[in-house]
Amino acid sequence: MGTRLRILALETSCDDTGAAVMDGRTVLSNAVSGQSVHGRFGGVVPELASRAHVQLIIPVVESALEQAKISLSDLDAVAYTRGPGLLGSLLVGASFGQSMARALGIPAVGIHHLKAHVLAHHIEGVHPEPPDFPYLALTVSGGHTLLLKVHSAERFEILGQTMDDAAGEAFDKAAKIIGLPYPGGPLIDALSEGGDPLAFAFAKPRPEGLNMSFSGLKTSILYTLRPLIAEDPSFLETRRADLAASIQHSIVGVLVDRSVAALRQTGLRTLALSGGVAANRALHAVLKKAVEREGGQLLVPPMAYCTDNAAMIGIAAVVQAERDGLKKTSVALPVRARIPIDEEFQHQ
Ligand code: KG4
Ligand code: ZN
Repeated sequence: MGTRLRILALETSCDDTGAAVMDGRTVLSNAVSGQSVHGRFGGVVPELASRAHVQLIIPVVESALEQAKISLSDLDAVAYTRGPGLLGSLLVGASFGQSMARALGIPAVGIHHLKAHVLAHHIEGVHPEPPDFPYLALTVSGGHTLLLKVHSAERFEILGQTMDDAAGEAFDKAAKIIGLPYPGGPLIDALSEGGDPLAFAFAKPRPEGLNMSFSGLKTSILYTLRPLIAEDPSFLETRRADLAASIQHSIVGVLVDRSVAALRQTGLRTLALSGGVAANRALHAVLKKAVEREGGQLLVPPMAYCTDNAAMIGIAAVVQAERDGLKKTSVALPVRARIPIDEEFQHQ
């Protein structure tokens, strides 16, 4: 492709409204607006998320275009998240993106959210060189936990995945049990610093193959805590740091164990981390050491490209269009709440 593609990308799969402008693989702007409305409910409320996307999408798009110093007539395409995610939220971005593309007479490109998380590693400047295919990817967030073999920008093979809760969800649910507000993941991370990771031995289930399971953790914490709180009502307060560190130790332990097993099983040496849980300092540190012990390298993008963001949707569209041309890439795709990442389909 001779000229660099200018793409406006939208991400509205969950509770962050994002818009980004790409100039080829370079990010010109990456605007995101979180939705504070969910905090008091202890989790994302889908109907409120859709309504907030409707209110936020125009200001977020305007701010992305302004920061990028790009006008609508400069755009070659509009990319949007087609799933997986909350259906109502996805519909906002998809209808907005498709209408805008139609009004401008340019193609609209539907992108797979999870592929985009991984392809964020290919954004210009994120690494000195983007990882060579094939490589391993671990995507861990509030909604997903996947261990993948990335054969190409289109072909993703699932090596392992959670059988129940996502890793971020496990952090959040465990945090709630020990009395922390939503989202509890970052608070567990912060509290753990002053705690003993071996103070409590919580469940570290190892389902078959490279799969993972986190739902037993809640039960394991509840059973451990029940007699201790009965004995000492202030137990949660006095031991919160030890509890946080032990919870973190258990979740990180499962993720590291499975990642190392995947490296050994595939013989691959690069592990590309993504998703909001990549912010966890213990995961970062322990995983890095473990991967290096295997003779490999751990790649972690800056956090702005790890949590849900529109630049990752943009890079996925760019990489796809570089290969197949924009025209072939822009097939009108319906949004879907669930789309297997290894589903046979030639486009994102
Ligand atoms: O990728 P993300 O921003 O949104 C999606 O879920 O798609 O990830 C959010 C998740 C939440 O569950 C949050 O608690 C978790 O990532 N998280 C963390 C940390 N920062 C965010 N979990 C553990 N330690 C952190 N530092
Ligand atoms: Zn995500």
